[in-house]
Amino acid sequence: MKGLRVSESLEGEKLDVLAVVLSKDNLGEELSKIPGELGGIASRPVGLGDFDASLGSSLLLYTGSEEFPRLVLVGRGSSSDWEDSVERLRVAVAKAVTTARSVKKARRLGILVPGDTDEYAQREALVAAGLANYAFHRRGRSEPPHRLEEIVLQGSGGERVEEEAKAIVEAVYTARDIANAPGNEMNPEGLEKTVRRLAEKHGFSLKVYRRNELEEMGMGGILAVGSGSSVEPRLLVLEYDGGGSKTLAVVGKAVTFDSGGLDLKTAEQMQHMKFDKSGGAAAIGAVVAAKRLGLKLKVVGLVPAAENMPSGSAFRPRDVLHMYNGMTVEVGNTDAEGRLLLADAMAYAVEKYRPDYIVDLATLTGSIVVALGNHAAGLFSNNDELAGMLEKAAWRAWEPVWRMPLWKPYYKQLESSVADTDNVDGREAGAITAAAFLSKFVENTPWAHLDIAGVAWKRAHGPDKPYYTEGATGWGVRTLVELMKILES
Ligand code: BES
Ligand code: ZN
Ligand code: ZN
Repeated sequence: MKGLRVSESLEGEKLDVLAVVLSKDNLGEELSKIPGELGGIASRPVGLGDFDASLGSSLLLYTGSEEFPRLVLVGRGSSSDWEDSVERLRVAVAKAVTTARSVKKARRLGILVPGDTDEYAQREALVAAGLANYAFHRRGRSEPPHRLEEIVLQGSGGERVEEEAKAIVEAVYTARDIANAPGNEMNPEGLEKTVRRLAEKHGFSLKVYRRNELEEMGMGGILAVGSGSSVEPRLLVLEYDGGGSKTLAVVGKAVTFDSGGLDLKTAEQMQHMKFDKSGGAAAIGAVVAAKRLGLKLKVVGLVPAAENMPSGSAFRPRDVLHMYNGMTVEVGNTDAEGRLLLADAMAYAVEKYRPDYIVDLATLTGSIVVALGNHAAGLFSNNDELAGMLEKAAWRAWEPVWRMPLWKPYYKQLESSVADTDNVDGREAGAITAAAFLSKFVENTPWAHLDIAGVAWKRAHGPDKPYYTEGATGWGVRTLVELMKILES
């Protein structure tokens, strides 16, 4: 989005809505800082109603003033909600945006945060505002959803904060747009077209491998997953070289629709499976962000794309696949397809780029949703340093991750009598055995896997954050931005 700004003062901005962010512990003092006549309106006892600045609460007031006709008070809560004050700021600012969006006439929103905010907090406030202003809009739909045209945050951060926020928001929008797009349009072919446009627009390079090339290269995993679909699978390789000494490979699962294949899912399980391309969407978003931010490192985004469908040409349970790294895999279940296409892409990343680090993101298992719900992604890693950096990055972005074990005994569950490995075991520790399978394809490269099945799209059981709009969350892009900033040199 274009209209995201930081300004020293909100005076003369012709705002349709002015939002003031207030903390629960400090309500009285902060209210006294609201400028001029508005201060009077907001602090008159009758004017506040039941508003107590609890986290995510809001109160819309009509002021009668010409300069600030509408005032929204939003609650930042207190440290008993979340200790992290920046996360509470994100929630409050995003709530200001959703409240302003609910006013049909509102175009321009100003946001005032009493007290000191450093550059990081200002940037994150702007990012949260931008994310809350998102709507998925397909061409051809007659009435686009109402969005604000301009959001101005009062702050001292200036252009740098503004530019960073805009780049991050655009990268997350890109990921959300891809993940939200329906499976019939954003199939592997549609995804290739979309990424070609992005490569041209932003100026990163793109190589696409189609079926013939995948056959020549011996990518039996990607080919098998795509074999039941009338649309060819692909491997998209996005490259951004910002100099610096480090190379990061980001691999993202892009199953553009996961029906389960011959191990067909139930109708209900299939409902959200257009979102099975969310990992790939995040990888693409990360490359967009790296380029827009001009980060000093090399980033390779590898996105294996396929549609998992049942048909006469589909792969079968108990098939044996020949993978890119020379291993053979017995297919225990065609619905455990993500790990098959990731394995080829990861082995290729390791062999071709010898990256310093490899991170993969995937809506990989229902098992991780059982374990962590919708509040955190599962983190698996063969390297404590990388896992530590990712944890730090994830908390800075407030995309919580929780580390899971990859102990040797779990590997026993994948043994096969006809191939080097099976691709599944039963329900026990399903997210861990999936990660254990992936680890067989990275050699000794420091690697981390994020299972984002629980957090890739907004669900009834939360997280109920106003910067997550309906549908895809774009989860992972902001964590990767923070990780890439740590790796910059
Ligand atoms: N895409 C699914 C995982 C998934 C499930 C994502 C629910 C989001 C919500 C994946 O391909 C899958 O079907 N995994 C199976 C593996 C099983 C067959 C071993 C699962 O988790 O049930
Ligand atoms: Zn599946
Ligand atoms: Zn899947």
